[in-house]
Amino acid sequence: MKSLIAGNWKMNGLSAASAEIKALITKFAGSAPDDRDVLICPPATLLMAFASSFSDEGFEFGGQDCHANASGAHTGDISAEMLADAGAAYVIVGHSERRADHAETDAQVKAKADAALNAGLSPIVCVGETREEREAGKALDVVAAQLDGSLPQTPSAFVIAYEPVWAIGTGLTPTIDDIAEMHAHIRNKTRADIRVLYGGSVKPANAQEILAVKDVNGALVGGASLKADDFYGIISAAPGDV
Ligand code: PGA
Repeated sequence: MKSLIAGNWKMNGLSAASAEIKALITKFAGSAPDDRDVLICPPATLLMAFASSFSDEGFEFGGQDCHANASGAHTGDISAEMLADAGAAYVIVGHSERRADHAETDAQVKAKADAALNAGLSPIVCVGETREEREAGKALDVVAAQLDGSLPQTPSAFVIAYEPVWAIGTGLTPTIDDIAEMHAHIRNKTRADIRVLYGGSVKPANAQEILAVKDVNGALVGGASLKADDFYGIISAAPGDV
């Protein structure tokens, strides 16, 4: 499998942020590396413009969430079909910020993941424990339950992102042993051909060590994906085959 380095821009970026993608392309001397997948999930407002301007350079684009239905009376929501139509290849579902801010349940995340697959997108299904859950020794059980509840029914290619909630945007990361333990646990619960990403405070300084861990097949990167220099450093640290 190729490793997947995915940038989650969250609610950041106006049209001028295309300069960061242009800078990234320049760093790669005109095109994304062939031996790994590079994905950027910008705000939905930028998706179509980015996908039409930069897909030829080998970069892929994705959404940050989708509705479980293909269309209908859901003001403000965006369907997986719409994301695909705008040029997306992936969509993040069940990010902990969506689970917390919008009270998304595992069942809703699963429905979104299935909707994504039906629309031809690869869902990136996010799971991860809170600090209290880790301190109580429940991290493995919490993640197992999230996987049971949130993975798509459709037996096609999807991606899992393990993102400890307490590591997101905090500068904190689990120990390498804890990452290895959780990724082995997730691998046991899924198939060998499913990429399992690590997310939570990945930056150029820690990317190489984290991406070398067995069963870590790439990274989901928030803050450090917003700046071309940092994202380039992380992409460069990724092994090709995983
Ligand atoms: P972070 O976010 O890299 O800023 O910690 C990761 C994420 O939320 O996907």
